[in-house]
Amino acid sequence: MIVLGIESSCDETAAAVVKDGKQLLSNMVSSSMDLHAQYGGVIPEIAARSHIEAVLPVIQQALTGAGCTWNDIDAIAVTQGAGLLGSLLIGVLAARTLAIAKRKPLYAVNHVEGHIYANFLTETSLPNYVLPDMQPVFPMLGVIVSGGHSQLVLWRDHFDYTLLGQTQDDAIGEAFDKVAKIIGLPYPGGINVSKKALEGDPQAFSLPKARMEGKYDFSFSGLKTAVLRLAQEQTGNDYSLPSTALPSLLKEAQKANIAASFQRIACETIVDKVLLACAEFSPKSVVIGGGVAANTELRRQLANRLPFPISYTDMKLCGDNGAMIATLGCFHALHNRPVADPYTLEVSPNLSM
Ligand code: KG4
Ligand code: ZN
Repeated sequence: MIVLGIESSCDETAAAVVKDGKQLLSNMVSSSMDLHAQYGGVIPEIAARSHIEAVLPVIQQALTGAGCTWNDIDAIAVTQGAGLLGSLLIGVLAARTLAIAKRKPLYAVNHVEGHIYANFLTETSLPNYVLPDMQPVFPMLGVIVSGGHSQLVLWRDHFDYTLLGQTQDDAIGEAFDKVAKIIGLPYPGGINVSKKALEGDPQAFSLPKARMEGKYDFSFSGLKTAVLRLAQEQTGNDYSLPSTALPSLLKEAQKANIAASFQRIACETIVDKVLLACAEFSPKSVVIGGGVAANTELRRQLANRLPFPISYTDMKLCGDNGAMIATLGCFHALHNRPVADPYTLEVSPNLSM
């Protein structure tokens, strides 16, 4: 079963080819991130226009990289949601058209589930990929930590899962991005906060952890506001100081200590609930997906606090990519899930688990 995966939910135009839900044959990503950097965040119209230009070349590169022709492809999988409407439309329209023109079955994939399925890739002959030795086993606790989602999900089997809890406001990646803005670090925020944190003391400041009604729910907006108040205090001003004034008033050492303290608490918030869920549900594997899965502090805390080791996918497969979509698409195809009608498949920007 060889599946072409197409992903265009945000600012990455991505395509990949995966065999049997475990073997990565190619993985191509074209990002419009540089175009958004001057605005400090993703501009949906620019992202959509970039997808139009990139989508067919990226798909062709994915086929060539895999050494495949269209004859070798058994199915196409595409991200249906969640994501930006204009961005999703381009990937879905490309996939629909190709499915009709090349006579391939089409599978609609949930982007958030896809992040978890990146961890099912265990084999590749591509250079520079470090993949887990074996596929996760069920019951599997999925920890989704991305720019749009923070969720704990218990999978009993493929396509049989329960959402245990999720953020009630900001996602953890969004909190990283907002903290980056507060202390004046460039876009993309998450990776730059984690780099700055390396120079700082994670114990420099104590910041609050939200107490939630739902045992497995999260909240990150209070933490973000606490960082804003802390930054204002550190400059010697009161809370009326506009946040735009902070980057030039904060010293580099203060920024580093704020970044490190925020990152410690944000990661602890996730890890606390992962431990709770492990105690209650005794999963056979714990799997992390989404952009923040690349965060080394999160990985360090999990290694220190979990009673068993967990494996991670390659850093290049934590952020948005086509390989995760192709992998989940393989399982859709193998489990005979209903095939989307290429003539009617619609995007679903708010698709939930
Ligand atoms: O999964 P992803 O690429 O896109 C979504 O589906 O949202 O996640 C992007 C998020 C952004 O908020 C980004 O700042 C964050 O992941 N991120 C990180 C790191 N790398 C990316 N956050 C913390 N540490 C990182 N190393
Ligand atoms: Zn994502």
